[in-house]
Amino acid sequence: MKLIITGGAGFIGSHVVRRFVTNYPQYSIINLDKLTYAGNLANLQDIEAAPNYRFIKGDITDAAFIDGLFKDEQPDAIIHLAAESHVDRSISNPIEFVLTNVVGTVNLLNAARKHWEGSYDQKRFYHVSTDEVYGALGESGMFTEETKYDPHSPYSASKAGSDHFVRAYHDTYGLDTVISNCSNNYGSHHFPEKLIPLAIHNITQNKPVPVYGKGENIRDWLWVEDHARAIDVIFHKAKAGDTYNIGGHNEWKNIDLIRLLCQIMDRKLGRTAGESEKLITFVKDRAGHDLRYAIDSTKLQKELGWVPSLQFEEGLEKTVDWYLENEAWLENVTSGNYQSYYKEQYQER
Ligand code: NAD
Ligand code: TYD
Repeated sequence: MKLIITGGAGFIGSHVVRRFVTNYPQYSIINLDKLTYAGNLANLQDIEAAPNYRFIKGDITDAAFIDGLFKDEQPDAIIHLAAESHVDRSISNPIEFVLTNVVGTVNLLNAARKHWEGSYDQKRFYHVSTDEVYGALGESGMFTEETKYDPHSPYSASKAGSDHFVRAYHDTYGLDTVISNCSNNYGSHHFPEKLIPLAIHNITQNKPVPVYGKGENIRDWLWVEDHARAIDVIFHKAKAGDTYNIGGHNEWKNIDLIRLLCQIMDRKLGRTAGESEKLITFVKDRAGHDLRYAIDSTKLQKELGWVPSLQFEEGLEKTVDWYLENEAWLENVTSGNYQSYYKEQYQER
């Protein structure tokens, strides 16, 4: 099988690429990524020499390029993760999200429709999406696969749009598509402008840890490697046209999560108890900030036997350890040096 994984240089994509390259030596895996600010090939240094792995730099908003790629490579399947993914960036610059998340996805669908014609039943288009398409929950309830779409941010609206197009290509043209909607991920290689890596970085540097509003918003956190394993299971076992929610039944108020993180950091950095918590700084709330997300992943657990492997405290501790042991990675990302990695590794070789 020749498999294209888009967005493989990003946070979740790099874990998915590593898992597939390692677990499926018989597959030929192409990582297609534009290398935006969020793409970092150093995330994949450990597997970049594997014989079943190749990196191709490219932009999914470029329809001609995507068409040529399908023509040249004749892939059997695609796992599509490439996206603009940060809600705060979507509030400042929504159009970038429409281009990559909606137009980019439709470009991939068009190429699949054209180049897979006559063999749709032997191909697969797997679209990776988010629980944010379902909108915000009040104090009770959970998102199921039947929850009506109700996105609030430009990011979630663009992901909802892409999900609708994927379903439309299944219903209209008969493409074999699968969608999964996952809750917030955490773990290694997470770009340090998202809450958990940002807080770890700032605590290490003794800088303020910004908490939006009163820190009352609730997110349902899943260890990124459990997400990659769910994608693996769904990719191989789901029926055409199906959707699965992925989540860890692990809801945390932002402020409680940050306090737990501060306790772990105090211990790891040999600080006196309570020292890191002093860095917590309440800042202006995000516009349209969704109150609560919570995923019901019963369907995935019952039908495909997937269950999360890690308790949150254990996962958070592992994550902190990774950041403390990989100071050079964090330094490269925060200084911007990571952007020269591609040039050094791929163009000057
Ligand atoms: P990320 O921002 O870390 O990585 C995105 C990757 O896509 C980067 O490598 C970037 O270079 C690439 N990319 C962006 N625009 C591109 C373009 N035009 N052409 C080609 N490549 C491009 O994102 P992430 O957090 O790893 O999320 C991956 C996917 O999972 C996204 O589709 C996101 O919506 C979804 N998701 C994320 C979370 C989460 O908690 N992070 C949760 C659920 C779903
Ligand atoms: P984020 O990691 O941006 O993910 P998302 O908004 O997609 O859920 O943020 C997680 C939560 O943390 C969200 O409620 C916003 C909040 N947050 C802060 O309080 N401070 C920060 O500096 C950031 C980046 C996020």
